[in-house]
Amino acid sequence: MTGLDSDTAARTGLTTTRAPFIEQAQQHGQLYIHQPFELYSDANHDAWRRLYARMESRWRKYANPRFLQGIDNLCLDPARVPRLEDVNRFLSPLTGFKAKAVSGYIPSFLFFDSLRNREFPTTITIRDGATLDYLPEPDIFHDIAGHVPMHTDRAFADTLVRFGDCAHTAADIVAAIPDEAERIRRMSSIFKALARFFWFTIEFGLMRSDSGLKVYGSGLLSSYGEIAHAVESPEVQRYPIQLEWVINQYFEIDHYQPLLFVVDSFDHLFELVGTLEEWMLAGRLDNVAGGEPAVSEPDLRSFLEAAAAR
Ligand SMILES: [Fe+2]
Repeated sequence: MTGLDSDTAARTGLTTTRAPFIEQAQQHGQLYIHQPFELYSDANHDAWRRLYARMESRWRKYANPRFLQGIDNLCLDPARVPRLEDVNRFLSPLTGFKAKAVSGYIPSFLFFDSLRNREFPTTITIRDGATLDYLPEPDIFHDIAGHVPMHTDRAFADTLVRFGDCAHTAADIVAAIPDEAERIRRMSSIFKALARFFWFTIEFGLMRSDSGLKVYGSGLLSSYGEIAHAVESPEVQRYPIQLEWVINQYFEIDHYQPLLFVVDSFDHLFELVGTLEEWMLAGRLDNVAGGEPAVSEPDLRSFLEAAAAR
């Protein structure tokens, strides 16, 4: 129980932003943690049950078939927050990926490096049952029900590994720049390009199919309202993905996305990450348009430290 009194733990469970277990881990600088399953409260399990129940029909309607296959492969319990070790028992034999519990935000280079090692940093808290619809932070429903089913697919899993390769390529590139100010400037630009590409594909991607547009982005797959909005609403602009557009396109995280990009297939997505890396090596990510996302100090530092260790 790691020093928590059991009354406090039972009252707050592992609820997003109100979990003493997580606060303690963060105070001790622990990024990677275990999942103290006994701390989940009845209210936490109930939040999972309600989130899962209302998404099921939307997944059948809007999700791409490989996600649906992934949901079946993982054998998630619709009624209880999943144990990561149970998830991994089904996931790992398929693609080598594992969900790995984290205390919260992971600096970007470490996040991408985890993907390269087929480990997915996974939030273990769950949103408050009173606010099922929206929260700015990821939670275990977003990470396990939104992301991890896609990780059962080999082509998608290999694409995530290639993102990890890109982070290492970025570190290699900036390691060769002697001037510190220039190193920071170019790293910031490359970071924006990577973050934007990840956002418009892994988090909010759409895919063309014979039966219309299907969703493969995890931000959509874990949002009851936005998954339908993304496919149906006339307010959303949907365009075939163009790399030069995506890397220069700012995004905002606090409202439904007005602009989404469509890929043809998972092979197409995989190829695009390869092109992104080629462009990085050719200097084409060194001067992308400004605007969101901001480059946080820990994100930048994580890449520069990786570069310094080269
Ligand atoms: Fe996500």
